[in-house]
Amino acid sequence: MKKSTLPAALIFFALLVISCKDKNATVLKDVFADDFLIGTAVNTQQILGSDKEAKPFIIKQFNAITPENAMKWERIHPIPGTYDFALADSIVSFAIANGLFITGHTLVWHSQTPDWVFQDSLGNPLTREALLERMKDHIFTVMMHYKGRVQSWDVVNEAIGDDGQIRRSKWHEIIGEDFIEKAFEFAHEADPDAELYYNDYNNEEPLKRAGVINIVRNLREKGLRVDGVGIQGHWHLDSPDFKIVDESISEYASLGVKVMITEMEINVVPTPSWLYGADISKMAEYKDSLNPYVSGLPDSVQTMLTNRYAKLFGVLLKHKGIVSRVTFWGLHDGYSWKNNWPIPGRTNYPLLFDRNYQPKPAYYAVIEEARKMK
Ligand code: XIL
Repeated sequence: MKKSTLPAALIFFALLVISCKDKNATVLKDVFADDFLIGTAVNTQQILGSDKEAKPFIIKQFNAITPENAMKWERIHPIPGTYDFALADSIVSFAIANGLFITGHTLVWHSQTPDWVFQDSLGNPLTREALLERMKDHIFTVMMHYKGRVQSWDVVNEAIGDDGQIRRSKWHEIIGEDFIEKAFEFAHEADPDAELYYNDYNNEEPLKRAGVINIVRNLREKGLRVDGVGIQGHWHLDSPDFKIVDESISEYASLGVKVMITEMEINVVPTPSWLYGADISKMAEYKDSLNPYVSGLPDSVQTMLTNRYAKLFGVLLKHKGIVSRVTFWGLHDGYSWKNNWPIPGRTNYPLLFDRNYQPKPAYYAVIEEARKMK
């Protein structure tokens, strides 16, 4: 071999080794490294350590996290003037120490927000001005506390109804439609470097999608910063048709925003369709007939789940570079909120890892989708 070709040969060999390594990578964050961030929701047991396996597992598989509840108004700002950052601080420190991308969830939402937020000290409804002041104080206090540490925020969560119109919430009733603009305005003032997102469920459905598109357009017209739209992705074996997810990603992307799947899982237990979506104020009573897989998931349903995840990742991978992050709403099946919502006390299997942190067939199927696309 001529002297000058030796370094080139070495580089070629090194690249070959690296590419083989990536091809054989079997942790999610490596498999999808060139496609999108892979995230998980995190909760108290995992972060405060009663589940010892959780933290190493999070670091191994994921490169993004979202606090499942710790940053919601009722947790972080439970009483007027009193903020409790303890749990959220632990999450943020853990994320920073391990290089995980953090999404603060969530600043302005109608759920998990105490009643006092909308009332004066006598229990009377606040005026528009007073509620705007309170919203600003909350956004500023929380975002400035995490400035430079939390890179992105779900600024407004679930402000559109299934009909595509602004949801009738206290925020809307007292402030008016511009509560959304105000939230984004305050958030950008509080931390000009943070990415700001609008997040919702069912916003892949055309009617609701149109409402979310209006919000993004309106924010942009007013010169306000909005970086992305989160599609929560609380999905089922039979719904939605992933064609509309595909379309929605393209439509949102055409507005010039990033698209994220922010709270993904696929429910496998029988659920009446009026409880599809994620309106946490709706629930139904437990019945044994709605909890058929207590002692394990039948192979036939496991296969349906596997195929459904494979199909979904086919769509998401098609939009790599536009879809910036895919976050699972729970670390493993045992942690999923779908065991208790919309019907309490069920045994659900909606994620890629089982209750013992073992990968399920769906895990291998999504990895296979990534390999097919390479
Ligand atoms: C859920 C949590 O997973 C549960 O632990 C909690 O009891 C209720 O809220 N939309 C959202 C999430 O934006 O914050 C919700 O999370 C699910 C619906």
